Amino acid sequence: MASSNTPSASYEGPPDYRVIGRHGVFPTMGHDEIERVNFLAQMNRHLSTRIVPGVKDAFDREVAPAFEKKTGAALADRHEARKAMLGHPAFRFWSAIRRMTMEQRQQAGRWTTIRQREELAERAAALTEGDDRLELDPTLAMPRYVSAVDHHCMPGSYHQEAFVGDVTNGANYDHGNFVTTAGLLGKYADGGGHAVVKWVKRNLPDFTPHKILEIGGTVGHSSLPIAQAWPDAEMTIVDLGAPMLRYGLARAKSLGVDNVRFVQASGEDLSRFPDQSFDWIQTTMFLHELSTTSLANILRETRRLLKPGGIVLHVEQPQYAPTMPLFEQVMRDWDAFYNNEPFWSRMHELDLDGAMVEAGFTREQLIHGGVTAVVDKDLFPDAADDDTEDYGRKAAWHVIGARV
Ligand SMILES: C[S@@+](CC[C@H](N)C(=O)[O-])C[C@H]1O[C@@H](n2cnc3c(N)ncnc32)[C@H](O)[C@@H]1O
Repeated sequence: MASSNTPSASYEGPPDYRVIGRHGVFPTMGHDEIERVNFLAQMNRHLSTRIVPGVKDAFDREVAPAFEKKTGAALADRHEARKAMLGHPAFRFWSAIRRMTMEQRQQAGRWTTIRQREELAERAAALTEGDDRLELDPTLAMPRYVSAVDHHCMPGSYHQEAFVGDVTNGANYDHGNFVTTAGLLGKYADGGGHAVVKWVKRNLPDFTPHKILEIGGTVGHSSLPIAQAWPDAEMTIVDLGAPMLRYGLARAKSLGVDNVRFVQASGEDLSRFPDQSFDWIQTTMFLHELSTTSLANILRETRRLLKPGGIVLHVEQPQYAPTMPLFEQVMRDWDAFYNNEPFWSRMHELDLDGAMVEAGFTREQLIHGGVTAVVDKDLFPDAADDDTEDYGRKAAWHVIGARV
């Protein structure tokens, strides 16, 4: 009989990739491709649950005391703490392996999607051709904060395409989420969207949206749960990247979600929509990829586009605050330095309330909250049903928004 020490009884790793949610444009994968991403998902889980505690130990017992001994003062902020950590082998080891898993996850996904890119494009075209819910704008200029960066080591980021109708980067993005999060966002990578639905239903029970906008919706991972929860509403998903949008509409249709449209535009200039066009404007894990200027422009557009009584909600990882331990700040800042997220650090130290007020909201209109990703019970059958924190099984984000 298995004791609690046997590997099978103590296994806490991610589910096997074969449980991933498939749909009409999901790439096909062979045995070796699946085992490659299984390895990477397990390595990510191992890093976060087994290695990070050791890095924290090194910080608490060695790095912080050594700094204080040398300088006579405690570490003052995350910049000082990060520089002190750079010299410690535990941090270097964790950082190198984490970067390696990101690089390999992107290359694994690219290999899988590039080898079938013509077929994927044909499948997407068959689902979207002639459908006016896909509006592309080949003249749209990519802002430099997007075009100059391969976000989270993703070659060509969200927008690059190799031929007309290409969906490769959308397929790679969809295929890889499971690996980065070790399945924690669910088999359709939609745990964030489900969390937002739950939050709105609980906190704004009188709110019935008719027109919903998601800015930076990518392939619709977080948007589709919202569209499904309010099937009588019309949801518009705006993004810069044509491969994401083509793939996104094809994916939505093949999953039976019909009240969504995908529009190629910049959230900085949504002049195609008149003032007060939407009851609800959503962004999810989006603000950290914006330049400071574009973030201000987008917040201003959301204010213009909201109907009276409407809401805007931004779901993001927590802002740096004096109450957040320095070790956690250092680990979160890793993305800015080693994961091609150049605006991460700046955005997470921004006074978001102040930025919302600058954009035209009043302080009285502001909303603050928090959500944890809804765990997919198909993947984690023993996860807690309620909202109790289930650390290691749930991703936690902040909500900042406004009701006008
Ligand atoms: C991190 S992803 C967002 C993830 C997505 N919201 C989700 O929950 O799955 C950032 C997205 O924002 C898009 N983006 C960046 N700047 C934008 C802008 N100015 N207007 C519209 N989309 C933008 C990118 O193309 C990318 O698809």
